[in-house]
Amino acid sequence: MKKPVLKPAQTTRVKSLRGIISAPGDKSISHRALILGALSAGESRIQGLLTASDIGSAANALRQCGVDITITDDGYCQIDGVGIGGLAEPADILDLGNSGTAVRLLMGVTASHPMQVILTGDESLRKRPMKRIVDPLSQMGATVSTAMHGGLPAIVTGTSSPVPMTYQVPVASAQVKSAILLAGLNAPGKTTVIENIPTRDHTENMLKLFGAKVEVVVIEGKTHVTIEGQPELYAQQIVIPGDPSSASFPLVAGLITPDSVVTVKGVGMNERRTGLYKTLCEMGADILIEPGPEVCGEPVATVTASSSSLKGIEVPASRAPSMIDEYPILAVAAACASGKTVMQGLGELRVKESNRLQAIIEGLHKCGVNASSRGDDLTINGCDGVVPGGDGTIITDKDHRIAMAFLTLGLCSKESVTVDDISMIGSSYPQFIPDMNLLGAKINFAS
Ligand code: S3P
Repeated sequence: MKKPVLKPAQTTRVKSLRGIISAPGDKSISHRALILGALSAGESRIQGLLTASDIGSAANALRQCGVDITITDDGYCQIDGVGIGGLAEPADILDLGNSGTAVRLLMGVTASHPMQVILTGDESLRKRPMKRIVDPLSQMGATVSTAMHGGLPAIVTGTSSPVPMTYQVPVASAQVKSAILLAGLNAPGKTTVIENIPTRDHTENMLKLFGAKVEVVVIEGKTHVTIEGQPELYAQQIVIPGDPSSASFPLVAGLITPDSVVTVKGVGMNERRTGLYKTLCEMGADILIEPGPEVCGEPVATVTASSSSLKGIEVPASRAPSMIDEYPILAVAAACASGKTVMQGLGELRVKESNRLQAIIEGLHKCGVNASSRGDDLTINGCDGVVPGGDGTIITDKDHRIAMAFLTLGLCSKESVTVDDISMIGSSYPQFIPDMNLLGAKINFAS
């Protein structure tokens, strides 16, 4: 097998960061816009689609299922929808690259189409657990088999008569919820997903926008999301808001670098996504949120972060779904804070693009920061300002967010911080290094 070529990079401490950038298109919302555009009747037009490899993988898979999709480099996208039930059986395997969202949502869609689909991904995606998707989709009548380890490749044999059902999701996962709702889209009758802790609701919001009937009620503290199957979906013109998860990297950079003011425009502020911003404010961060007009039914703001003396806090497990992708960058903020930060309920981090709990701890140790885990909790003893940094290359395990987090930490490290590979940054935020350098960072390609 060919050995992957790694692209290392290095960040050196800078005196200040200043400037204004725009957040890249939201990855979660871009996935949903592509999928629902494909499943509606007529031509949908999308502006501000995230142009990153995860979205490219999803678009290619839909093209293989007979959907005509054009995407330009500046994020303009045109989709010739085929209608619910209109996807064609692909002639070849669908390779979703690094994208967990694409593979799981498409498993949901294809489960209620009478066709057989083989799905796979890169080394990281193939390791990720699929049982959480296989169980509910099987209950709806699809036949799904995975590799022996419970991951990809998987074969989905969709059913022509999907059974609507009520399903209580055992893990807090928007991907699982969305896969079931998308399967329910082509099932006659009502499909309900019950969540103990609500997760991001972009699928529900966008289903409504395209014309589906979706009802959300809270019963005894649990969120019940119900979709009425087999509606007509109508093509839409959509603008995608900026991604709060991607914006968190330059914003935390602004907080931890001295004499800095960093502004990110167009940041999505859906309350199911903004746990990090709440947490940073509790840590004493100077963050100014200036709301603008809604985009695609989602609240959006211009966010400005200025250098702050952060202090350690406790972050409750109940907040995890609203900031699940932000723990690597929160760990960076905690490393620069004074005192101890305890983040509770991080079990799901073990099954992300890498084992993020382990990657965060190992990376922080290399930067001279005291960090440890107990069960699903992570404790970081902050360095109160500048961290030592420098002691060996950070192993990113091909995880985009681990790479971006540690490159950010290099901005307030005594010695420079080197990460082993930046190639996966292109899966979610291809402009990350140019954006950071525009603000005044010094991120260089290393050898
Ligand atoms: C996502 C949901 C989250 C998140 C992922 C995107 C989505 O995953 O980590 O990056 O778009 O639905 P889980 O549903 O597995 O928590």
